[in-house]
Amino acid sequence: MSRVKRLISFEGIEGSGKSTQVKLLGDYLATKGNKVLTTLEPGGTQIGAKIRKLLLEPQNHMDPLTELILYYASRAQHVREVIYPAILRNTVVITDRFTDSTVAYQGYARGIDLSIIHALDEIVVPDLKPFLTFLLDLDVEEGLRRNRHAQKEDRFELETLEFHTRVRQGFIQIAAGEPERIKIIDASRSTEDVSREVIRIIEESWH
Ligand code: TMP
Repeated sequence: MSRVKRLISFEGIEGSGKSTQVKLLGDYLATKGNKVLTTLEPGGTQIGAKIRKLLLEPQNHMDPLTELILYYASRAQHVREVIYPAILRNTVVITDRFTDSTVAYQGYARGIDLSIIHALDEIVVPDLKPFLTFLLDLDVEEGLRRNRHAQKEDRFELETLEFHTRVRQGFIQIAAGEPERIKIIDASRSTEDVSREVIRIIEESWH
């Protein structure tokens, strides 16, 4: 699968600051004259927002396979309705989470065989891999603490520390396999410091 130059993703555990960094990078690239679209998964479309609600409501006890397929249902709609058309309009798409999240959460943390996830990936996004992915890496307890401050409590925030530790380790393992694409960023620093590093990497690798 080839990397698509106008697609950038941010990944990381809960509370790692992705949504803030998506916005800051979007603003930066827009001031440089790019057309920019920022979006998120699960979600990014009307149908995706409904699927997101199903996935995150704490009272929904969900089978892991149902969960996996719902993430891919949201993604199928998102890439076809939003991402492909934007890329064709020469717009830079920055997404808060993409396929690496599925490998980390449903694969490494839930324990679904990675070959099943890769098979679904081949069906839903056969030709769409981000050119750059920023992995905002952070201590798990610190991430959960930050989220509690923001009074965020969805189905995943209620998972155990062990679950979130497997997510973090999963992301690091994925990044180790694709160092060209995935840049690990120390997200324990200030918002400004993280943003400066993201922009430095964009400037170095994107032109
Ligand atoms: P968010 O809170 O960063 O918006 O993400 C929503 C939750 O969904 C988060 O706990 C991570 C989880 N998630 C998965 O488990 N698999 C996926 O493929 C995606 C995109 C998100």
